[in-house]
Amino acid sequence: MANYNIYFSPTGGTKKVADILVGNLEGEYKEIDLCRDIEPLKLSKDDICLVSVPSYGGRVPGIALDRIKKIIGDGARAVMNCVYGNREWEDTLTELQDTLESIGFTCVAAVAAVAEHSIFRQFAAGRPDEDDGVQLAGFVAQIQAKLDSGEGNMCQLEGNHGTYKEYNGTPFKPEGDERCTGCGLCAAECPVGAIDTENPSSNEKEKCISCMRCISICPQHARDFDADYMRELGDKKAAVLGGHKENYLFI
Ligand SMILES: Cc1cc2nc3c(=O)[nH]c(=O)nc-3n(C[C@H](O)[C@H](O)[C@H](O)COP(=O)(O)O)c2cc1C
Ligand code: SF4
Ligand code: SF4
Repeated sequence: MANYNIYFSPTGGTKKVADILVGNLEGEYKEIDLCRDIEPLKLSKDDICLVSVPSYGGRVPGIALDRIKKIIGDGARAVMNCVYGNREWEDTLTELQDTLESIGFTCVAAVAAVAEHSIFRQFAAGRPDEDDGVQLAGFVAQIQAKLDSGEGNMCQLEGNHGTYKEYNGTPFKPEGDERCTGCGLCAAECPVGAIDTENPSSNEKEKCISCMRCISICPQHARDFDADYMRELGDKKAAVLGGHKENYLFI
């Protein structure tokens, strides 16, 4: 029997929620980071996985799905975790459930939790916070009891199964400016290989998924968007992205 903490978390918010969940589950969880390509993995029915993804436009990021599909579930049980940035998560969990079940997982529980918005960082800033931690830990106790009892599948989540909300990406494609020292960190860490190692100020815009990882890791802050422009744009989105949004728990 083995346990896995499987996550796609370009800027760390999804991982924060995953770590709260895993930290309250029993046993050791090996990490599988979907920001990098993974080796094919065959599981068995005694294995347990926490599978965590951010919501991008109400969907699972395509590259995360591609990498998840390298795993054969073979009856392993999955707890699903979708992390959203204070707008909505729409079809993210149903798409994740459909995918995991199609590769042989049994989904036993799901969470849709709030984390700081990775593009407009002023929204849900500081989430998950202490209250989130207490709520999520309480829910993990229920999940652990279900895992221990050997109870089977959760119901299909409500919402769209098979066809999902259209998502065509965002116009945010970060490039390096004159502060770039050419260290190459962003090129090495880009989940989709959109940055040329020889010319790391670049961005291959067709490949870029606007995940903001290069912005968050650049030691020189050479890929930041213009702060005033982002603040102005954020102000226009406040009605949709503002306020205190809830975590949703399904078992
Ligand atoms: C390209 C992109 C699209 C996003 N779309 C949504 C969305 O539809 N709804 C939402 O609430 N948050 C959205 N967010 C915010 C992220 O879901 C949220 O910040 C998440 O915590 C990011 O995960 P990470 O910190 O692990 O990278 C989006 C973020 C990015 C980068
Ligand atoms: S991480 Fe920053 S400094 Fe390093 S290559 Fe990328 S943009 Fe340049
Ligand atoms: S270039 Fe695009 S896909 Fe690559 S790390 Fe930066 S934002 Fe993410």
